[in-house]
Order: sequence, then C-alpha cells, then structure tokens
Amino acid sequence: MIAQLVLLVVLITVPSMAYGGKAESIDELAKRYDSSSCRQCHAEIHTQWERSHHHKTLIGTKGRTASTWAAYLTQALPEDKVLKGSGVKDIKDVKFRHMKPCTICHLPQLEDATDEVANEVAKAIVNNDLNVLEKLSINCIICHNTRAIVRHFRDGIPEKGVIYGPRGIGAHGDKGFPIAKKSNIMIDPAFCGQCHSGPNLIGFDEPMYCVSNYDSYLHAYVPLGKTETCQDCHMRGENLGHSFPPVYDDEKLTIERLKKWIDLEVSALGYEFRPTAQSLVPEVVIKTKVTSRIGHRYPDGCPSPNRVTLDLLVKDAEGRELFRDQKIYMPQSGNGYGQAMVYGAFAKLGLLRDTSLQPFMPSQETFEIKLPETVRKVLAEVRLVFRHLPGDEVVIHKVTRTISLDR
Ligand code: HEC
Ligand code: HEC
Ligand code: HEC
Ligand code: HEC
Ligand code: HEC
Repeated sequence: MIAQLVLLVVLITVPSMAYGGKAESIDELAKRYDSSSCRQCHAEIHTQWERSHHHKTLIGTKGRTASTWAAYLTQALPEDKVLKGSGVKDIKDVKFRHMKPCTICHLPQLEDATDEVANEVAKAIVNNDLNVLEKLSINCIICHNTRAIVRHFRDGIPEKGVIYGPRGIGAHGDKGFPIAKKSNIMIDPAFCGQCHSGPNLIGFDEPMYCVSNYDSYLHAYVPLGKTETCQDCHMRGENLGHSFPPVYDDEKLTIERLKKWIDLEVSALGYEFRPTAQSLVPEVVIKTKVTSRIGHRYPDGCPSPNRVTLDLLVKDAEGRELFRDQKIYMPQSGNGYGQAMVYGAFAKLGLLRDTSLQPFMPSQETFEIKLPETVRKVLAEVRLVFRHLPGDEVVIHKVTRTISLDR
C-alpha cells in the first residue's frame, strides 16, 4: 500500500515524459512541459525568458512566425504547393510529419503528442488563435532537459526528473526536477546550433532553411581566430541572460545593441572632375564603409524580408533632392529551381547572392554623383537602418555632411 502511494506521488510530481504515451490534447502537452514552478526560485531568469523570442516560437515578432507557417500550411500560391506531394488536401489532413519540418526547432515537444494534437496546433496557426499559440514555446524544460544533450550515443538521452545545467550542482530544489546534472554542451555553440542552423537537406521529407547563425559562425567567424561563443554574446553580460537579445519588439534595446556592434564610416568629397582636357564635371563622391563585429552574417534571413539598408540622400542648399539611393544588405535565397529570389523558410533552399554584413568584412560603397552646373554646395545624409519589414525603420546610425565645391 505504502509502495503504491509512493509510486502514485512520483507519477504525479514528475512532469515531462513520465506518462509514456503521447499527449492527447494541447493542454496535456502544455502541462507536461510546464515550467511555471521554475519561476518560484528563478524569478529573474523567468522574467527575462518571458521577454525573449523563445517564449513565443509559434508567434514570432509581429506574428510573423504564425503567418509564415500559415502560408506553408495553406499555400498562398497554388502552383507552388509545397505539400501537394504529401496527400494533404485540406488543413484537416495535416499530421505531425507535416508539422515536424518547423516544429523540430520551433516546438520540439510536439513529437511527444498525437497526430490529433499536431492537427490542433496546425489549425491554431492557420486561424492565428493566440490563446492556443501562447501556451506552447521553447521554455526552461526544452533547453534544460529535452534538448540539453546533443551526443546521445556518447552521453545518453535526457533523464526524467533531471535538470541539465552548466555546473551540475547535484540536489536541486524543484519537486519535478530534484537533480541537476552537468551537460558540457550547454556552454558550446553546438547547443544553439541544434536549432539555429540550416538548411536541413537530409533526413526530412521537406528541407527547411530558416536560419544559419551557427553555419555562418563556424565558417566566417571562427576562421578569423575569434573565440567568443553564442552564449558569450547573447547571454553573458549586463541585461542579457535569458532574454536572448535581439528582442525586436524592444526598439530601444535593438538600436543600442546594433549601434555597439556595427560601425558606419562616411567620407565625402566635392570637386570638379576633368575627364578630358576640355570638360569639367562638378561632382560629389561619397564613400561608405559598414563594419560588423557580430559573430555571424547579419541579418540572417528568418524572417526573410528583414534587412539592413544603407540609405543615401543628397540635397542642394535649398533642400531640393538631387540624388537618392539604397543598398540592401541581406541573404538572398532561391528555391533550387529558378533564378528568382524567394521568401519563407519553406521555399528557401540555398543562397543566390549574399549581401548581408559578414563579420569583420567591411561592406563598402562608392557613389559618384554628378551635380547640375549651378550647384556648388550639397547636403548628404547617410543612414544605416534595420528593417524587420521593408517599410520599418530602426535607425542604427545617421551621418550628415555638408560638401562644398568651393574652398
Ligand atoms: C533548423 C531549425 C528551424 C526550422 C526547421 C525552422 N525554423 Fe523558423 N526559426 C528558427 C530560429 C532559430 C529562428 C530565430 C532566429 C532568427 O530569426 O535568426 C526562426 C525564426 C523564424 C521566423 C522569424 C520570426 C520572427 O520573430 O520574426 C519565422 C517567420 C519562421 N522562423 C518560420 C518558420 C517556419 C514557417 C518553418 C517551417 C516551414 C520554420 N521556421 C522552420 C529555426 C527554425
Ligand atoms: C534557449 C535555451 C534556454 C532556455 C529556454 C532556458 N535556458 Fe537556462 N540556460 C541556457 C544556457 C545555454 C545556459 C548556460 C549559460 C552560460 O553558459 O552562460 C543556461 C543557464 C541557466 C542557469 C544557470 C545560471 C548560472 O549562472 O549558472 C539557470 C539557473 C537557468 N538557466 C534556468 C533557466 C530557467 C528557470 C529557464 C526558464 C525560465 C531557462 N533557464 C530557460 C539555455 C536556456
Ligand atoms: C525550490 C527552488 C528551486 C526551484 C523550484 C527550481 N530551482 Fe533551479 N536551482 C535552484 C537553486 C538554489 C540553484 C543553484 C543556484 C543557482 O544557480 O541559482 C538552481 C540551479 C539551477 C540550474 C543550474 C544547474 C547546474 O547544475 O548548472 C538550472 C539549469 C536550473 N536550476 C533550472 C531550473 C528549472 C528549469 C526549474 C523549473 C523546472 C527550476 N530550476 C526550479 C533552485 C530552484
Ligand atoms: C530548441 C531550439 C532552440 C535552441 C536550442 C535555441 N534556440 Fe534560439 N530560437 C529558437 C527559435 C525557434 C527562435 C525564434 C522564435 C520566433 O520568433 O519565432 C529563437 C530565437 C532566438 C533569438 C531571437 C532572434 C530572432 O530573430 O528571433 C536569439 C538571439 C536566439 N534564439 C539565440 C539563441 C542562443 C544564443 C541559443 C543557445 C544558447 C539558442 N537560441 C538556443 C530556437 C532555439
Ligand atoms: C561576437 C558576438 C556574437 C556571437 C559570437 C554570436 N552572436 Fe548572434 N548576434 C550578435 C549581435 C550583436 C546581434 C545583433 C542583434 C542583437 O543582438 O540585438 C546578433 C544577432 C543574432 C540573431 C538575430 C539574427 C537576425 O537576423 O535577426 C540570432 C538568432 C543570433 N544572433 C544567434 C546566434 C547564435 C546561435 C550564435 C552562435 C552560433 C551567435 N548568435 C553568435 C552577436 C553575436
């Protein structure tokens, strides 16, 4: 009797994965991965995490994740239906295997639920049902248990009731997770690389190419002899921790960080160019140099329309516009079949061209602007802008120069 009671208590208090079978409702799934008990002792970390994008991995900034996902499931373009080879004719046919290409990174716990639950999540995405979408995310338990071990043959699979951390303190105060063990991989970039890499070309029915921070870090940053990790730049330091900036909803923080990590240099010259002995061409030459010290390409490409732009505007002394141009810094993907650039994790396959900012590799531009003969003085304004959507404006740097052709 006592043994049975003890067993019952264990069954009630060990939350995730203790049930064996798959979760049969969204609420059951949410309960299995409930991390509300962590708040009690890790209040600050919990608040930071609630601000982070990991807290809303089915929704995204400005609802972008849900809307992109809805496009994948419903197909905005009938002639390009990604799911047409899968037997899915209607949203009611969507099963776990159709969700997996996104949930493997956005909601790993879905593998612990039935096809019916996967279908409910799909419907919530298509209907933008925030009440449902807010219940599920990448929380403490996903990172500190489910995805805390990467090398399973070497290190085994995550154990029930164990919290994995950078130290391995042993006894741990949480009732559901009474033991804390060390997992070395948590302080390695590969831990983040589980989800922050792509495209996943093999092992999936549909390859997905959402992000490539890890790939870019390995191939463009480490070769420079740099040793800072994802954790160093995104978690360690003042105001960082579990908020994992960028938090794009927080414009002030975004500007502050981008200002610190990306430099803009501008030089300008006004003169009379003499291409032949007979002709004089009044012109201004503006040179720009953008240098990023970020540990990977930036921006990265998911959400795919986001970009950094260099905007140049040249006016005369009366404020009349003489010249305007924009350079776009972003990875530009194709779908593997044509030469047209595509958007969306489900359409992208590789890069056609990449003008994004590369670590310590300056992006330089030269603008040669011929002036009307009467203009001897101009005002040039150069802005470096982060745009989550093409119309958005988060100004990182603004430099103005008055340029005269007379000494
Ligand atoms: C290999 C892991 C992985 C896969 C697969 C994946 N994503 Fe992502 N996705 C991420 C990560 C990590 C981020 C956040 C990092 C970033 O924006 O650079 C992200 C960000 C996004 C964003 C931008 C969110 C925002 O806040 O603006 C959208 C939209 C998105 N994903 C949609 C999808 C959809 C839809 C699928 C499936 C068709 C998918 N992703 C598959 C890992 C993945
Ligand atoms: C996206 C993955 C991720 C999520 C989500 C996450 N953590 Fe962490 N956590 C980490 C990593 C990685 C480290 C190690 C950081 C380092 O090495 O600086 C860490 C470290 C910690 C530490 C140890 C801090 C120290 O200084 O030793 C605690 C405590 C912790 N996390 C608690 C939580 C709690 C509570 C939650 C949920 C509110 C949570 N974590 C959510 C990845 C995550
Ligand atoms: C009763 C209090 C209590 C609760 C509840 C609690 N923790 Fe902890 N946890 C601690 C203390 C104390 C430490 C050690 C000091 C520290 O790192 O803050 C710790 C350490 C950790 C560490 C670092 C472990 C290591 O060995 O590196 C992680 C990760 C962690 N907790 C995650 C969680 C998660 C996830 C939850 C919710 C499921 C949780 N904690 C709930 C008290 C608690
Ligand atoms: C289990 C998968 C997973 C792991 C592990 C993970 N992330 Fe994420 N991360 C995501 C997803 C998914 C998003 C995007 C959420 C959204 O907006 O849709 C994200 C968002 C982010 C963002 C916000 C950027 C943006 O554009 O949304 C940062 C920064 C980030 N992660 C850094 C890290 C770092 C650093 C680590 C390792 C310590 C890590 N992540 C581990 C899945 C993961
Ligand atoms: C040398 C510092 C540094 C390193 C190393 C680094 N990052 Fe970043 N990362 C940044 C900065 C700075 C930004 C710009 C936005 C911000 O943090 O506010 C950024 C942006 C991002 C974004 C948002 C991308 C976008 O296009 O919106 C993600 C996601 C991210 N990093 C994940 C990672 C991951 C995963 C790793 C490890 C593989 C990593 N970072 C390594 C400094 C770093």
